[in-house]
Amino acid sequence: MSELPDVLFNLPSMEGRELDYVQEAARNGHLASGGEFTRRAAKLLQAETGAAEVLMTTSCTAALELSAMLLDIGDRDTVIVPSFTFTSTGLAFARQGAGLVFCDIEPVTLGLDPAHLETLMDEHVRAVVIVHYAGIACDVEGIRSVLDKWPGVRLIEDNAHGLFGTWRDQPLGSLGRYATLSFHETKNFVCGEGGALVLNDPDDVERARVLYDKGTNRHAFMLGQVDKYTWKDTGSSFGLSDVLAAYLLAQLERREVIQAKRRAVVEHYTTALAPYADELGFRLMTVPPERTSAHHMFYVLLPDRDRRNDVLELMRKSGVQATFHYQPLDASDAGRTFAARRTECPVSRDVADRLLRLPFWNNLSPSHLDRVTTAFVEATTETLESR
Ligand SMILES: Cc1ncc(COP(=O)(O)O)c(C=O)c1O
Repeated sequence: MSELPDVLFNLPSMEGRELDYVQEAARNGHLASGGEFTRRAAKLLQAETGAAEVLMTTSCTAALELSAMLLDIGDRDTVIVPSFTFTSTGLAFARQGAGLVFCDIEPVTLGLDPAHLETLMDEHVRAVVIVHYAGIACDVEGIRSVLDKWPGVRLIEDNAHGLFGTWRDQPLGSLGRYATLSFHETKNFVCGEGGALVLNDPDDVERARVLYDKGTNRHAFMLGQVDKYTWKDTGSSFGLSDVLAAYLLAQLERREVIQAKRRAVVEHYTTALAPYADELGFRLMTVPPERTSAHHMFYVLLPDRDRRNDVLELMRKSGVQATFHYQPLDASDAGRTFAARRTECPVSRDVADRLLRLPFWNNLSPSHLDRVTTAFVEATTETLESR
């Protein structure tokens, strides 16, 4: 068995009434989706994002799949996704039959590059999916100004990282036609596996409810709007169990505390590392104006792939689990299979080679944080001197 590092990359924590709520859910005798805790978690998220409706799902991947079903993709339809993202951002649309068109990212926010997007738009595009990487809004204004010329194209936010971040004081997740959230154990708010679909347009709610509930109008039946429920449409079983929703609600209720802890981690890393950046040749992540970060992660960019890999290895040897991130989807086997056509995404490749993420979780102690920054500075110094 491999030895555990002294400072793990991720460590989920209980922050409030998780166990009380899980017990309550179990005692309520309603373990499936659609119970009291599912409703309360959805209402909290709806109030925070100003959405027309929020559907709690088994994962962000499931929420993306549901949003892909809402598009009714036909022959030759395409969906534009960033190359630098998690597989699900593309997979969900590919399995509904869309051809994927991979768009490059811009180097400041690591979000979709509007200049590249403009060159990729044509009459086949049904939707454009954006990611607010690390919880920092992408160039929403640039992307909207491209989409203004294509009014039928839907903007979808894969907001797996960005819950409680903002762009121009508007919540991330409220900017697209719909948005998806993740409550996987690596995210800011967790329940093991979980997610949500945030519906910002009231016109989507009725159909989304049917697709969400195995293609039935069960929700209308529960509200007494129809006297029996039947099979109406396509769909799947997307609902989050009430037991997991109970855990999640306890986390969401502690959102201010959790976000403050995570902000403090970012501040610590920034203050400790900024003085070394020029001398040792790395770049710290930045939050451009008009944004507040959701504090999902902390990354740095090293000058090249070899140096990044050497720094990762040296940190691992000193007991600190840092890591790289996404490999560009356009260069992957499945990306090539599902691509409608080949596109060039050089910034995605460059960033994927150079990016390093530091350990990031709510309860990293000051001594953990010092261990991390010391290990990082020593590793970048050693790798600079050996070149
Ligand atoms: C941008 C992005 N989208 C989607 C997902 C998938 O989330 P989930 O594990 O909740 O399906 C991830 C996972 O990390 C992600 O980073």
